Amino acid sequence: MSKTINVFFLAAEADPFIKVGGLGDVAGVLPRELRALSNDDLKLDVRLVLPYHPVVKAENLRPLEPFSIQRGDSEVQVEAFETVLDDMPVYFIGGEPIRANGSVYSLDASRDSEKYAFFSLAAMELPRYINWQPDVVHANDWHTALSIYVNLTKRWEAGAKHVAGVVSLHNLPFMGADVGGILESYGIKLAQTDLPEWARVLPLPLGLWASDAIVAVSPGYAGEVLTEEFGCGLQEFLGQRRETLSGILNGIDTVSFDPATDKAISVNYNLDTLKRRAENKELLQEKLGLARNPDIPLLAIISRMDVQKGVDLAFTALKNMKRIDFQAVILGTGDPKLEETARELQNLFPEKIKAELRFDAKLARQIYAGADMILMPSRYEPCGLAQMIAMRYGCVPVVRAVGGLKDTVKQDETGFVFEKMHHMSLVSAIKTGLKTLPDHEKWESIQRAGMATDFSWESSAREYLKLYQSLVK
Ligand code: GLC
Repeated sequence: MSKTINVFFLAAEADPFIKVGGLGDVAGVLPRELRALSNDDLKLDVRLVLPYHPVVKAENLRPLEPFSIQRGDSEVQVEAFETVLDDMPVYFIGGEPIRANGSVYSLDASRDSEKYAFFSLAAMELPRYINWQPDVVHANDWHTALSIYVNLTKRWEAGAKHVAGVVSLHNLPFMGADVGGILESYGIKLAQTDLPEWARVLPLPLGLWASDAIVAVSPGYAGEVLTEEFGCGLQEFLGQRRETLSGILNGIDTVSFDPATDKAISVNYNLDTLKRRAENKELLQEKLGLARNPDIPLLAIISRMDVQKGVDLAFTALKNMKRIDFQAVILGTGDPKLEETARELQNLFPEKIKAELRFDAKLARQIYAGADMILMPSRYEPCGLAQMIAMRYGCVPVVRAVGGLKDTVKQDETGFVFEKMHHMSLVSAIKTGLKTLPDHEKWESIQRAGMATDFSWESSAREYLKLYQSLVK
């Protein structure tokens, strides 16, 4: 008889329903990739649960029987919906605390805490109502981490079945705000934890504390979170949990991100027809209003405008390259101050630099398919997806040696890597790239090595499967 592992996968966002950042990419693909590993001996029944944000785009939602959860003397209504995505059941949890807060993430930490605490608690009640019991609850980041805490408190109930709890770390510095009072109002006790005192009331640390396994989204980041520089004050606690901490590199959606078939780009190409890529560069230059010239290096920044991503450093670097012949395109939105700096840069060098300060998935693909290099000088980078997408399109990454960037980009083989968080280190890495670029043979070999690297989800999904198996044994 075949064995089944039931996995309840919780996230704040998942493509194609709602996507704000990299978490949405991962939660949109990984659950389905896991299901695809099912075979005659083992069935992986992974089901995705998302908050029913007012901005969610979903069709054919089937309302489930509403239920409620107790809060103090009153009850909070939970509206649950079900749909399917490629055969995978997907559940949405709605209710007042989720409706009250229009966007996926707000700047109001206490409102976000209300919303995600409600979501995590309500989601953990759902299995009862759909008559399906998880073997593993898999939460992602602070937003859903409380589900793992609740999973543990349920384990303390008499006769409770052991359900394993996993937390994936996509971004450790975001831990959520004090939920001590909120948990108490829902009748959930705060345990005596060995967390640092300040962390004992925060959703992410509570989830980590209650988990059976912690997964960082790259092996590099798994090592870094144990250090003072990247551990955000939890390094000692995580050090004590070292045996349960691992790193599994994210994949990318290699079907969607494929220069051979991508409909968003003008000229499709693959390893055999790499020469054709040059046409995309010229069309991109034209579209951006830059000089159409195959010999001028075209640099790209495709990123949230966020200090995490080091875009400020990239801007300073570009500003310091006055005497160098290059073009650059900046695509993304975010911090208004950084957007302003990008605009200033464009005004300073109108012939060279274009700032496209918006979310534009199509232009992003055209840039991957046309630009020579992408800059990713991140302060920290749990995994990073853009460098992998860029490599798949033959756009050579220039990255800082942190987290997933360090794990995925090999100096001189698939890209250019620098260590120090200083704009001159970035400038010197860019210059190494610019010196290599005219050597077509060498450049192509770098492009080819990147394009040939396997960044598909399958091997990562297999590692998650192994982890699940070890937890349900
Ligand atoms: C977060 C991290 C990024 C990672 C993504 C998906 O956005 O900052 O490095 O790639 O999550 O895991």
